Amino acid sequence: MRSPRAPRPHRPVRRRAARGAGAGWRAVPLALGLLLSFAGGAAQAADLSISCGALGQELRLCQDAVDAWSRKTGHRVQVVSTPNSATERLALYQQILAARSSDIDIMQIDVVWPGTLAPHLVDLSQYIGPGTTATHFKSLIDNDTVDGALVAMPWFTDAGVLFYRKDLLEKYNEPVPKTWTELTRIARRIQNAERAAGHARMQGFVFQAKGYEGLTCNALEWIDSFGGGTLVDDHGAITVDNPRAAAALDLAASWIGDIAPEGVLNYDEEQSRGVFQSSNAVFMRNWPYAWALANAEDSPIRGQVGVTALPAGGTDGHPSGVLGGWQLAVSKYSAHPALAADLVRHLTAASEQKRRAVIGAYNPTIPALYRDPEVLDAVPFFGQLYTSFEHAVARPSRITGSKYNRVSAAFYNTVHDILARRQPAEPQLRALAQRRLQRLSRDGQW
Ligand code: GLC
Repeated sequence: MRSPRAPRPHRPVRRRAARGAGAGWRAVPLALGLLLSFAGGAAQAADLSISCGALGQELRLCQDAVDAWSRKTGHRVQVVSTPNSATERLALYQQILAARSSDIDIMQIDVVWPGTLAPHLVDLSQYIGPGTTATHFKSLIDNDTVDGALVAMPWFTDAGVLFYRKDLLEKYNEPVPKTWTELTRIARRIQNAERAAGHARMQGFVFQAKGYEGLTCNALEWIDSFGGGTLVDDHGAITVDNPRAAAALDLAASWIGDIAPEGVLNYDEEQSRGVFQSSNAVFMRNWPYAWALANAEDSPIRGQVGVTALPAGGTDGHPSGVLGGWQLAVSKYSAHPALAADLVRHLTAASEQKRRAVIGAYNPTIPALYRDPEVLDAVPFFGQLYTSFEHAVARPSRITGSKYNRVSAAFYNTVHDILARRQPAEPQLRALAQRRLQRLSRDGQW
């Protein structure tokens, strides 16, 4: 392990214009000003800056861990919070990186971005050796390795899961649903009965259907659970135009205004959690982080929440959950790559991942932690759903590489249209496959 450099005189982090900065550079301070808030008060001189997500407890957990590293090394670090929407966050990073700005040294990047951002990221294998990477899920290290370069280190992983209200299922003597059809029936029954009993705001099911990356995850889960594939297969063939995919989306469209509010078309993770956690929904699709918050001391539904795998699509379908998760990467335009890599090593280490799992229910990327009694005690479903996490279904980001973001945008826009206008899915999926995706792919070569 390389030791970090001695502390350097502090310099203002936002004034470091990198060599080669083009006209785009001028847009970056504006983007930062509009989209970022600097955690911990006024911008101050720092040796490093790191962008962290702000979903749930993310920002505080990041800040605490960064502070611990700062105390140990004497380096100052500015924690920058980024937009919750993965789609907006990517646009911001692309703008900063295209301008070769050194404003952010360490970026929290989505599991689907290594292929897109790789040209701008440092190969961390010069700083973090195989002894360390071997302790992480191999699939994630493979995901973060682009053309032989380790462009990011896994920080936490995710898979879509179903949250349900144990007390309501018990009250109505209903089982935990195993298929989407069963979920639809139970959600409708409990929602309507609760409304009739005076709980006017009760909803059957909330999820993420705003037009952004989160909808890609939700829709892929519906389609995959019906056996309708993953949009583009591992060989690059466009597979989304098929009857099972259409059946899955037709069912989802029928939920809007029935078991899900119209507003779900504008919900991201935090909005769905807001409804569920304020006791206004029977079921919620979300990522594991919602567990810790739903059971927090001030949560109205503390102790009433169950978590299980998402339902199967019909009797010949299977439960599904999309693979999500975040990595830490060092920008090629960082003035301190070795120091930044040391902070990445600290943040992704087992001890820190354990702390995040216990406090925030963030899934570790180190398999051994799923056998740790303290982790399992804090988040029992990590053990029960381990296989679901291990076999979570990947979005087609590896095969589509730097085009993934455009593929995903074409997909979530189509799905949003189907849901919002209750249009039959089949012709929409055909147009998506034959026009938009076909145009993006070069005969499946991507
Ligand atoms: C979660 C997942 C991430 C996904 C995003 C979509 O943050 O970890 O992989 O892209 O949700 O909203």
